Amino acid sequence: MNALITGGAGFVGSNLAEYLISRGDQVTVFDSLARHGAFENLEWLRSFSKVPFTHGDVRNAFDVEQIVRQVMPDVIFHLAGQVAMTTSVQSPRRDFEINVLGSINVLEAVRQYTPGTAIIYASSNKVYGNLDHLDLVEAGTRYEPRQTGKAVDESTAIEFHTPYGCSKGAADQYMLDYARGYGLKTVVFRHSTIYGGRQFATYDQGWVGWFCRQALESKSNPGRAPFTVSGDGKQVRDLLHVSDAVRAYVAAYENIADGCGNAFNIGGGFENSMSLLELLQLLERKLELKLQYTHLPWRQSDQKFFVADNGKASKLLSWKPSTSKEKGIESTLAWESQCIAALSK
Ligand SMILES: NC(=O)c1ccc[n+]([C@@H]2O[C@H](COP(=O)([O-])OP(=O)(O)OC[C@H]3O[C@@H](n4cnc5c(N)ncnc54)[C@H](O)[C@@H]3O)[C@@H](O)[C@H]2O)c1
Repeated sequence: MNALITGGAGFVGSNLAEYLISRGDQVTVFDSLARHGAFENLEWLRSFSKVPFTHGDVRNAFDVEQIVRQVMPDVIFHLAGQVAMTTSVQSPRRDFEINVLGSINVLEAVRQYTPGTAIIYASSNKVYGNLDHLDLVEAGTRYEPRQTGKAVDESTAIEFHTPYGCSKGAADQYMLDYARGYGLKTVVFRHSTIYGGRQFATYDQGWVGWFCRQALESKSNPGRAPFTVSGDGKQVRDLLHVSDAVRAYVAAYENIADGCGNAFNIGGGFENSMSLLELLQLLERKLELKLQYTHLPWRQSDQKFFVADNGKASKLLSWKPSTSKEKGIESTLAWESQCIAALSK
């Protein structure tokens, strides 16, 4: 496979690049290095490979055209993006330019120069809005559907909330429309929480890594100020370990004839679902400590419950997640410990 990864120095992108390189695939990384940690991820990829890297910006049509014409990829994994809801609210234009214009630039470059190239796009569960119609009950540590085992599938009405939801959703729809209207081989993945190593989690994005970091820092410094949890902490997501996300991206390419023109909800499934409170309780048990945190108001359009129904992906892409949340959180704690140690050097 000759793959171009936009956002290839990011969390998901660098994990995907590493996997493809290890299989002997040809990989080119395109990234603006705007994300905190992207430079470190690129250095990491270069520590074991001669991966070609282009410093460019998806907002710039010329940058995108150049790299597409140069690489003539079999597949573009389009992962470059403005990734946080909170920052989209502060800078909606920037969010729009990166996520919508950037995606159009990728689509147009392919339409004009390499129409046979597959594009796999990372969209978001935010395209479904607040999901207020879900019939939820509030249990001790989580919200859950009254009808046990009811996950969210792709027939759910789309409803874009927040600038981030609008920009990811617009790009998601353009991807599908370029398959319909121009015959491009596009696939859309709608993810909620992806977690694991090489994510440089922040307060704004990457809550599993962020809370693992808060817990580790609380352990080494018991007197530190409490950290914060937005909302009541009972909001539930299904955790998708990055190694499973990587396999999903590869599966989308390998099954492109069946998958193209489709959107797929891709998550860890019910067995890997967790609320914020449940993660904090797990961390308390694992690290043998009592965490100190305070509550902030709910974040805008924070869904109380999102668990992906992976049925369509399982049927058309022969994919399902395999990493348990317990194992994944272990590895995330190891990664965060490594980051803390590197910072203290
Ligand atoms: N991580 C998650 O939980 C999650 C959930 C839903 C959707 N997604 C989507 O998956 C994709 C990858 O997410 P991630 O977690 O790896 O994020 P990330 O921030 O780690 O990676 C994104 C990469 O894009 C690069 N980038 C940003 N703006 C750019 C621009 N204008 N031009 C070129 N490169 C640019 C960044 O430097 C970064 O390396 C994103 O599109 C994100 O919206 C992620």
